[in-house]
Amino acid sequence: MAIDKKLEQQAKDLRDLLNQYSHQYYVLDEPSVPDSEYDRLFRELQAIELKHPELKTPDSPTLRVGAEPLKSFSQIKHEERMLSLDNAFDEEAIEAFDRRIRERLESDEPIEYACEPKFDGLAVSLRYENGVLIYAATRGDGTTGEDITQNVKTIHAVPLALKGNYPKILEVRGEVYMPKAGFNDLNQKAIEKGEKVFANPRNAAAGSLRQLDSKITAGRPLSMYCYGVGVVSEGSFAKTHDDILRRLKALGFAVVDKIDCVKGPNSCIKFYKMLLSQRDDLPYEIDGVVYKVNDLSLQQRLGFISRAPRWAIAHKFPAEEVMTKLNEVEFQVGRTGALTPVARLTPVNVGGVIVSNATLHNMDEICRKDIHIGDFVIVRRAGDVIPEVVSAIKDKRPKNVSKINLPKTCPICHSKVLQVEGEAVARCSGGLFCPAQRKQAIKHFASRKAMDIDGLGDKLVEQLVDLDLIKHVDDLYRLSTEDVTKLDRMGEKSAENLIEALEKCKKTTFPRFLFSLGIRDVGETTARNLALHFATLEGIEKANMEALLEVSDVGPIVAEHVQTFFLQKHNLEVIAGLLDAGIHWPAIKKPSAESQPLKNKTFVITGTLSSMSRDEAKEKVQSLGGTVSGSVSKKTNYVVVGESPGSKYEKAMKLGVATLNEDDFLKLIK
Ligand code: IVH
Repeated sequence: MAIDKKLEQQAKDLRDLLNQYSHQYYVLDEPSVPDSEYDRLFRELQAIELKHPELKTPDSPTLRVGAEPLKSFSQIKHEERMLSLDNAFDEEAIEAFDRRIRERLESDEPIEYACEPKFDGLAVSLRYENGVLIYAATRGDGTTGEDITQNVKTIHAVPLALKGNYPKILEVRGEVYMPKAGFNDLNQKAIEKGEKVFANPRNAAAGSLRQLDSKITAGRPLSMYCYGVGVVSEGSFAKTHDDILRRLKALGFAVVDKIDCVKGPNSCIKFYKMLLSQRDDLPYEIDGVVYKVNDLSLQQRLGFISRAPRWAIAHKFPAEEVMTKLNEVEFQVGRTGALTPVARLTPVNVGGVIVSNATLHNMDEICRKDIHIGDFVIVRRAGDVIPEVVSAIKDKRPKNVSKINLPKTCPICHSKVLQVEGEAVARCSGGLFCPAQRKQAIKHFASRKAMDIDGLGDKLVEQLVDLDLIKHVDDLYRLSTEDVTKLDRMGEKSAENLIEALEKCKKTTFPRFLFSLGIRDVGETTARNLALHFATLEGIEKANMEALLEVSDVGPIVAEHVQTFFLQKHNLEVIAGLLDAGIHWPAIKKPSAESQPLKNKTFVITGTLSSMSRDEAKEKVQSLGGTVSGSVSKKTNYVVVGESPGSKYEKAMKLGVATLNEDDFLKLIK
């Protein structure tokens, strides 16, 4: 008996500790122990529960890994209805909303509103009895939803047991969502495995919650923000909406910090504009903001009408997904000959920008999404990614749609189009015979991270090729001022400037030169690694497979592309032309160990530095042997934090990655 009591206590201590660690990590963004420690305690608890199933409780963190698959979801009737929100799309509608409220309340005083983000996920109701999560349900029709308890228990941001002073019965409402980073990782993995990708984080969250097998849900990066309550068995739970949020936070729920209490509609609109400007940088998707009358007694007096409260409204952002018609598909030819199907659309406003073209990615995607010319389609444009067609609306399919066919020959040079087994992309086989590929190769050569030729923009390159003034990159250096003045909108002065810029960029670095050649799959970092490893062009040209594979980040595919590139007579001629024109770079000294103090160290730079640009900081780190990455992970050694850092800073804090301010950084690179 005594042993059982001891074991029971031990299990309880482990549960409490693990729940506390989860809360610190997922809700407060303040991890307190390394993952390995969490895992160790978790396994300890699992072992006890396996031997003594009677010690397993409904708030055990071992439930986070998922349970036995269900046959179907059962229904749950909400004791208090889950309401929806009315939408407003412009400022007039917000002013009208405020007017209606003041009229109903017969108030001349400005109304106080709690302003918060409108999360783009799924509404979920959590019911706690005696501080323990009893069930979780979807909204359903507002009256009855589905029991998704097992799935929701896998979400670490959802407390399985409440902290502190809780009411006997408490229903908490909030939104389950998938953070952007988790969504991108999930889709990336799906692409690698050739599986179906999700159109957006909301669909991914919905798909993950709808799993009958909660072990699948457990592997999905879901989270939850709470924004309200249903039934509460405590009369004095809160007096205002922001009180509710404060109490929820104290009980262990994740509550967003981007909340403001303001007076009157103009301040609400200010909040809207502020959040809209931050939209792309937030780690989760939002589709607007919500204004709620803050005083709960006023909410009570206002009540609701049909499905929505009179005291709240959603002020929607311009949609990032919009329906339009796909009128035609054209194929664009990229630098490596890849054919990208581009949809010509009836122009439509997506997220505040007029979109008339969107990518369809490749033929596999077109097949998978079953898209036809003439279809009504959903176009998506989020952040700075290029607009894409996410799906076709099959219910609205007109009779006269036609199939999208991969052209047999290149639309530009009419060479044969090849589709390599196992590769999604089709390519024009014309190589540098194809003007489209040549144009892209020249644009790449001139771009900022390559030869950085000031003033040689895309439009100029196109004209130069179309007028046959240049064929390949080395021809650039044979251009005269007279040649250039022949171009549209080119005065003598601008022509002279361009020739001067060409002259100036002859002095370059070996990594830049290598990158500018546009070898397939050789990006900036690989070019750098190759340059440092071989030190000379000759060294790379002569390198065999084995030697190439020694270079960090170079695998068999890249190695083959490098070899193939230097086997083409044509490429060697262009390189000779460039060297003849006088392109040169300082010799690469093979780095000694002392000159590489940052070897094997990975940096991420966020925010603005006062003493140098981010690119300069990057070059500095690289020159000392370090690597600079664009995203923070557990493998990052340092995050350098400048003025107004982005979400990378938050991520670093969350993962416990070391951060450096500008002074620390300057000391380190000294
Ligand atoms: S309050 C009584 N607050 O929007 C009001 N809803 O369009 C109930 N949503 O079903 C909702 N963020 O799924 C509220 N900060 C927020 C929200 C939010 C997202 C969702 C929720 C609701 C839908 C209504």
